[in-house]
Amino acid sequence: MLQARVGPGVRKRPRPVEAGVQRQGEVKFRDVRLYLVERKMGRSRRSFLTQLARSKGFIVEDVLSEEVTHVVSEDNEAAGLWAWLKGRGLKELPKMQVVDISWFTDSMREGKPVAVETRHCIQDTLPTLSEGSTPTPVATVSQYACQRRTTTENNNKILTDAFEVLAESYEFSEMEGPCLAFRRAASVLKSLPWAVQSLGATQDLPCLGERTKAVMEEILQYGRSFEVEKTLSDERYQTLKLFTSVFGIGPKTADRWHRRGLRSFTDILAEPSIQLNRMQQTGFLHYGDISRAVSKAEARALGNIIDEAGRAITPDAVLAVTGGFRRGKEFGHDVDFLLTTPQRGKEEGLLVNVIDRLKQQGILLYCDYQASTFDMDKLPCHRFEAMDQFPKCFLILRLEGGCVEGGVQRAEGDDRGWRAVRVDIVSPPMERYAYALLGWTGSRQFERDLRRYARMERRMLLDNHALYDKTKEEFLAAETEKDIFAHLGLEYIEPWQRNA
Ligand code: UTP
Ligand code: MN
Repeated sequence: MLQARVGPGVRKRPRPVEAGVQRQGEVKFRDVRLYLVERKMGRSRRSFLTQLARSKGFIVEDVLSEEVTHVVSEDNEAAGLWAWLKGRGLKELPKMQVVDISWFTDSMREGKPVAVETRHCIQDTLPTLSEGSTPTPVATVSQYACQRRTTTENNNKILTDAFEVLAESYEFSEMEGPCLAFRRAASVLKSLPWAVQSLGATQDLPCLGERTKAVMEEILQYGRSFEVEKTLSDERYQTLKLFTSVFGIGPKTADRWHRRGLRSFTDILAEPSIQLNRMQQTGFLHYGDISRAVSKAEARALGNIIDEAGRAITPDAVLAVTGGFRRGKEFGHDVDFLLTTPQRGKEEGLLVNVIDRLKQQGILLYCDYQASTFDMDKLPCHRFEAMDQFPKCFLILRLEGGCVEGGVQRAEGDDRGWRAVRVDIVSPPMERYAYALLGWTGSRQFERDLRRYARMERRMLLDNHALYDKTKEEFLAAETEKDIFAHLGLEYIEPWQRNA
């Protein structure tokens, strides 16, 4: 058509060959080579997008070669696109990311290639050439919680509750291996958007060993597990569970007291040789309140109180809720906050002053303050459970019913109009904000697997302070959680998807 309009005698000039020629802009991302598919996009839009990407430092290939890493298409008809791609005879096609224009747009906005997420991918829907009728396998579930999306909706609560009882019982016996095995299994089942109905359905899932499967089989068949029931009725398990429910009593102390024959709170309190520390005394004093769940409304009210205290000290105070409430949970055992200021070195003073203010307000019932031991030279830390080194405090606050929408959670017959609540506040320096936020958002299993993934899959060390690349021998800077996921080559997981 075009040629016909040009008319006889005027030969259309052939387009110059531009293969692999990067004309404008300096190359910033050598590991990434884009190819924009012209189909549906059209030539002029393709050329516009090519220039845009090159101006931002991306390499854009004009020809689809084996070197291309990202094939970007605006074609939303996947089958047609894949048929065309497969017709190119490319050996490296299975390694290429075939992505939708949304990945391109996100990358242009961020000024760098963003991690490819499922929503960006154009899935190959063409049947494989072998064995025509095998069903397409369900997306494989990763063994790492940081590669799974786990909301607060748990479709397998009966099974995961059972696993957690067993995990806890092994924790009381300091048997780390089986404890972790049951925790991992529970975490995998929590991520499933479906309820397990038969053992067969779990065949392709990771982290489910013989023992977890045996427990599952019993529950699926009889609705209960012998092993779990035996544990629940075990006297030692019950006692340790009771003792560790007190703020300040850990598994070691609980076990020691159990071995001395103590079985109840009365036994402990009546034993003259036992000197409770301040934390344990407070734990007993506020036992009823602290063991009652904290609601979202209560968490919000506490956020307002601490935010106000922070701003009264410095107007640029920054407060963020972390822990379970940031992950969208309705209830928690405490409320976790991150409090800081953009002023370098002022975060520790800010926290101390906030604590002082809470005291003056008469609402500080207990405070365990831990000053900063942060020293960048001592990083990275190889132990996961190691405490972080930021200034922080473990508090018990008095929350007045009037501050909470709908009042405070009360026990039956309680007419005090207030309750005690456990609150944790951590104050990292601003340049550590992203790492501290990621570390304190949890869940514990999510954090454990982030660190394990970093170590095993990326030769990197992650903790609440930093990410260290052992190959490059350097620390990786991050302003946001997204930066950290990108450094790890992980798809970004939203906080509400981290309930692993
Ligand atoms: P929590 O124990 O408060 O758990 O620790 P949670 O997920 O909020 O659940 P509930 O509702 O309170 O029971 C929150 C996160 O903070 C981290 C933990 O690893 C967890 O991921 N954390 C806690 C630290 O990193 N350091 C600490 O000193 C304490
Ligand atoms: Mn918490």
